Amino acid sequence: MSLVDLTDEQLRARGSIKWTFAAADVLPAWVAEMDFALAEPISAALHDAVDRGDVGYPALDEATGVPEALATFAGERWGWSPDPASVVLTGDVMAGVRLALETLCEDAPVVVPTPAYMPFLDVVPLSGRQMVTIPLDPDADRATLDLDRVEAAFSDGARTLLLSNPHNPWGRAFTRAELEALRDVVARHGARVISDEIHAPLVLPGHTHIAYASLDGAAEHTTTLMSASKAWNVPGLKSAQLVAGSRADLRALRALPPVANHGSSPLGHVAARAAYREGLPWLSAVLQRLEANRALLVDLVAQELPGVRMRALEATYLAWLDARCTGLANPAGAALERGRVLVNDGATFGPGGQGHVRVNLATSPERVAEVVRRLTKAWGDPA
Ligand SMILES: Cc1ncc(COP(=O)(O)O)c(C=O)c1O
Repeated sequence: MSLVDLTDEQLRARGSIKWTFAAADVLPAWVAEMDFALAEPISAALHDAVDRGDVGYPALDEATGVPEALATFAGERWGWSPDPASVVLTGDVMAGVRLALETLCEDAPVVVPTPAYMPFLDVVPLSGRQMVTIPLDPDADRATLDLDRVEAAFSDGARTLLLSNPHNPWGRAFTRAELEALRDVVARHGARVISDEIHAPLVLPGHTHIAYASLDGAAEHTTTLMSASKAWNVPGLKSAQLVAGSRADLRALRALPPVANHGSSPLGHVAARAAYREGLPWLSAVLQRLEANRALLVDLVAQELPGVRMRALEATYLAWLDARCTGLANPAGAALERGRVLVNDGATFGPGGQGHVRVNLATSPERVAEVVRRLTKAWGDPA
C-alpha cells in the first residue's frame, strides 16, 4: 500500500492544528501529526460508520471490538497479548494517564524523566501529585534512564514512574535489559509504572518494542496506555486503550462512575479497530518513509548544520536536535523568526531540553530538506 503525500494546500484545508496554527509562509514541522492522507482501511471504516450513523454513545468496551483487536495486534507484533477483558477504553492517552494517576496511584510524588512529552509535565500537577523530574544529561552519547536517581526518588517517597516507551522526545526504543533493570528498581520499592506506549508501532527498523508489562513480574505494577492515534494519525478521533495490570486495578477502574472516563468516541473506536486489524500495510509504508527521512536528516544535519547533534533515532518520527552550539537562547524562536520554520522548543519539554528543538519527520523528503535549509538560514553557521 502506498503512502499518499498531501500538498500544502490539502494540509491547510484539512483543518487540524499542525498546518493552521502558523502564518502561510511558515513550514510547520512541530506537533506530532503526519502529512499523509488517511490510511484507506480507516477512511473506509469511518465512512461506513457515518453511513450507519454510528455517532451515538460508544458501546461497552468489549462490544467495540477494540480490546480484541489491540490484543491480537500486540500479540503478533510484540509478543504481548493482554487479556482483552483488562482493556479499558478511554478518550486519549493523556486522559488515560490522568485516570491512572488519580485512580490507581498513591497520592505521592511521580517520577518523570525529562525532557518529557510536554503534557506529562502538566498532568502530574493536575492530578494533585508532586513531580520529581530526572533530567537526561544533554551531553550523554546515549539517552538512558538514570536508575540511580530513580532509585533515590523512590527512596525519598515517590511511588510512580511515568514512562514514555518508546520515548518521545528522546527517540529511544528501550532495550529489554534497560527495562528489566528499571523493573527491578520499581519492584524493590513496591512502586508503579504508567507506561505510555503510544509510539510503539513506530519503532524503526533495527529496533524492537518491548512492552514494559510483558516483562516477568512487571504487569502487576503497570498500567499501559496504547492508541492507534499516533501511528495512524487519527488523534482527533479520541480512542485510547488503558491496559490494567491487575484485577484490583481493573476493579477500581470499572467501579468509577461513567463521568470519570467519558471522553471516547465511537468513530475513534472504529478507526482504532480498523488500524489494528487492517492497518499494517499502511504502517509499513509509513515506517519505510520514516526510515528514509531519518537517514536524510542525519546526512543533511551533518552537511548543513555541523555542530548540531542528533542521537540515533530508534523510534517515532520526532527528531531531537541539540542546537546548543548555535549559542542561541531559543533556537526554535530563531528558526521561526529568521527561517520561517516551526519546530518545537526543547525548553518546553522540561529540564534538559533547553537549547534543543524537536523536528517532525512524518512528511515528504522534500519538506525534510526544506526544514534543514530553513534551520541553516536561521542559525547561520553554527559550527
Ligand atoms: C508520548 C506521548 N503520549 C501521548 C501523546 C498524546 O496522545 P493523546 O492525543 O492520545 O492524548 C503523545 C502525542 O504526541 C505522545 O507523544
